[in-house]
Amino acid sequence: MRISVIGCGYLGAVHAACMADLGHHVVGVDVDPGKIAALAEGRAPFHEPGFPELLARALDCGRLTFTTDIARTADAQVHFVCVGTPQLPGSDAADMTYVDASVTALVELNKASGRTPIVVGKSTVPVGTAARLAAQLEAVGSTLIWNPEFLREGYAVNDTLSPDRIVYGLPQGPAGEAAREVLDEVYADQLRRKIPRLTTDYATAELVKVAANSFLATKISFINAMAEICELTGADVTQLAGAIGMDDRIGKKFLQAGVGFGGGCLPKDIRAFTARADELGAHDSVGFLREVDKINLRRRDRVVHLAQEALGDRLPGAKVTILGAAFKPHSDDLRDSPAVEVATRLSALGADVVVTDPAALPPLARLHPTLKQAEQIDGALKGADLVVLVTEWREFVILDPVETATLVNAPVIIDGRNVLNPAKWRSAGWTYYGLGRP
Ligand code: UDX
Repeated sequence: MRISVIGCGYLGAVHAACMADLGHHVVGVDVDPGKIAALAEGRAPFHEPGFPELLARALDCGRLTFTTDIARTADAQVHFVCVGTPQLPGSDAADMTYVDASVTALVELNKASGRTPIVVGKSTVPVGTAARLAAQLEAVGSTLIWNPEFLREGYAVNDTLSPDRIVYGLPQGPAGEAAREVLDEVYADQLRRKIPRLTTDYATAELVKVAANSFLATKISFINAMAEICELTGADVTQLAGAIGMDDRIGKKFLQAGVGFGGGCLPKDIRAFTARADELGAHDSVGFLREVDKINLRRRDRVVHLAQEALGDRLPGAKVTILGAAFKPHSDDLRDSPAVEVATRLSALGADVVVTDPAALPPLARLHPTLKQAEQIDGALKGADLVVLVTEWREFVILDPVETATLVNAPVIIDGRNVLNPAKWRSAGWTYYGLGRP
């Protein structure tokens, strides 16, 4: 198939390379010339395990090209819309500028070429968007399918090639049926492997994505709310999560209490959902997501307060080593990262903050040039008055407490992800603070 992928961020770039790997001819389009130049030269603009190899393979076989000129996609049979929908400044709502601009450009392309390719929306959008865009596209002969993407950063390649499920939001009738057949051909490999494919109406398909992310965010904030109660009662949230997770109906995943969720998806998606619910007159239906957001942000406060408690009036000028900058391991994404918030807040309180991260230091230098950073963990730890683990990279989780104690000035650690063994660290002489742990 001849495919275009509009928007080459995490979602689009990985989708484009995966589609080329499956045998399709793909043109990736983005308005950012720097990103397009990097991708065309085989340089990944972000850290994503397995992506550089996939990109190189797809470029080498000649099936993947990149451009800033959407007109070069005129012969595509399928256009995938993969542009971002970030949070609007000063609002909870999503910024639809890029989605709207992409669809407008595709409408113009149809008019100029006389062709009627199908358009597949993958961006995360407020419910009701697909129906609005479908009307614009139908007017120039194209059918829209809403096909939400569920990939996780750090596992993006595998999640794209082998998703848990594929959802098509479709119009009823022959046009929808014909478009479904085209998209089935694009995903022939996945469908042959019996990955479930569900067809729904547009609104359901849009909601599958936001509902899934809302559920995941709620699960994390639920256990973090329990952590707050544990802190008041002396209970241990890690044991609590282990015990409730043994109930199959609850399950163990996404019950890791700590400094909470961040990234380019969960925080902005739950906020955009509450904003959209308000527009629909359903303020109360997802009102709980505001609490989910508040609980999540309170965990960042908690880490800052623990640092203040640990250092007292020695905080100004104290050397604080922050282990982690990315919002989660296997990523260099700093969007809404709890680690960055903790680092900048402690720095604003006067601490001498040094950050180390295996992947995210280059973007950190660009976005937060005033934060000191250290490439080597040992260098970062040297002379520390306090260590704060905020991203659970394996390099940090396997630190040896005895050896680490020889590097620091004072053996005090805040384990913001509850990934260290408190008994082991305490017996090596450390003052250990977890979140929701005694
Ligand atoms: C998420 C969804 O998982 C994915 O399906 C969707 O397509 C995009 O949003 P991602 O943002 O890559 O993916 O990260 P995810 O692995 O879901 O983690 C989100 C955040 O929650 C991270 O900051 C992580 O550290 C945190 N988290 C996760 C917890 O604090 N506790 C947990 O138990 C699990």
